[in-house]
Amino acid sequence: MAALKYAGMDDTDSEDELPPGWEERSTKDGWVYYANHDEMKTQWEHPKTGKKKRCAGDLPYGWEQETDDKGQIYYVDHINKRKTYFDPRQAFTVEDVQVKPKRFDGNTSALEILQGRDLSNKVILITGANSGIGFETARSFALHGAHVILACRNKTRSSKAVGLILQEWNKAHVEAMPLDLASLRSVREFAESFKAKKLPLHVLVCNAAVCSQPWRLTEDGLESTFQICHLGHFYLVQLLQDVLRRSAPARVLVLSSESHRFTDLVDSCGKVDLCLLSPPRRAYWSMLAYNRAKLCNILFSSELHRRLSPYGVSSNAVHPGNMMYTGIHRGWWLMTLLFTLARPFTKSLQQGAATTVYCAVAEELEGLGGMYFNNCFRCVPSAQAQDAAAALHLWELSEKLVRERSTAPQTL
Ligand SMILES: NC(=O)c1ccc[n+]([C@@H]2O[C@H](COP(=O)([O-])OP(=O)(O)OC[C@H]3O[C@@H](n4cnc5c(N)ncnc54)[C@H](OP(=O)(O)O)[C@@H]3O)[C@@H](O)[C@H]2O)c1
Repeated sequence: MAALKYAGMDDTDSEDELPPGWEERSTKDGWVYYANHDEMKTQWEHPKTGKKKRCAGDLPYGWEQETDDKGQIYYVDHINKRKTYFDPRQAFTVEDVQVKPKRFDGNTSALEILQGRDLSNKVILITGANSGIGFETARSFALHGAHVILACRNKTRSSKAVGLILQEWNKAHVEAMPLDLASLRSVREFAESFKAKKLPLHVLVCNAAVCSQPWRLTEDGLESTFQICHLGHFYLVQLLQDVLRRSAPARVLVLSSESHRFTDLVDSCGKVDLCLLSPPRRAYWSMLAYNRAKLCNILFSSELHRRLSPYGVSSNAVHPGNMMYTGIHRGWWLMTLLFTLARPFTKSLQQGAATTVYCAVAEELEGLGGMYFNNCFRCVPSAQAQDAAAALHLWELSEKLVRERSTAPQTL
């Protein structure tokens, strides 16, 4: 007020009060402007405060906007049968503050990203959501109203996970469905049961993985790390792509890892080599198998985005963080030791879920995909993960494997 006085303006009770000769009006789409009748001029800024404003919300019930012969907008109150040039919404104006997208980073938690978000119209499916990062992702979405489906291989563990979320919020819309990514038959049965529910699918998180597992062939005759981390997810997305397309805009997130950088998967001719992806026992090293599967995750996500983005389905790959203490290390004592030593310095699981959650809900990412995210930022994956030809080869090889093995299981 002292400042206004100093500027030679009348001191009033309200700093919004207009000086003499000024009038407040609004445009058809609700922007408030100011007309000065003495100087015959208009401006967007309030003559005293310099603030811009717009009308909040719709016209009250029974009101309609019309335009007179001179092109000026007026308002008709049909209930009380009267007309006015004053926009009734001006009683509820809000300041026009430029809202910049909030910046998140590696310290942000999933719940922070979702603060104030209502996801009650979203259906979200997460594989391997009974533990670790997948569980925190599911919990964060469910606590914000989404219908969350935990697709898990173990009924006891998945029921426990559902129970934990319901214990936190008994109105959470959360359920578990059986899915074993090591079996193409199980993936097909899962997709059939999901489709029978006649639900849309707005977000699909391909999260499940195994690492440092001893060599094992699945019932479809493929090395298990490769099938669980990549091929099972590939088949799942193939079977659910019609639902995703019908639910557009929809998003797929594929959990990868920075460890994708320490490997390759093409042969000397530049073709994706099945012997590298699903090696025999003598050529198997569990860490290498995991890294290759994580490279597949990025290539798959890029190619998926290329194919489905014209239908409103985008896909991005995510690195959740380094060496977070989950169940991922349990296959090998050395890994467990390393993860235990690193534990005080790594992200919490809530922070680990943040990048996935960010990619699932960020408005600025609508329709964007084929990218790789870390710490809620887009980052550059390895050169091989950017190889479009390798992504296409992997897609074709995956299609062939699924075609051959989902109907007639056979060994390598
Ligand atoms: N932890 C990290 O530091 C880290 C770093 C980089 C990337 N990631 C990625 O983050 C994602 C989540 O990993 P996490 O660390 O949270 O590990 P996690 O706690 O071991 O979770 C993995 C989940 O996948 C499930 N799963 C394993 N095999 C399955 C199968 N055949 N069918 C269906 N589900 C299966 C597991 O179920 P069960 O409980 O039944 O085994 C578990 O729920 C993974 O993609 C991983 O590669 C993790």
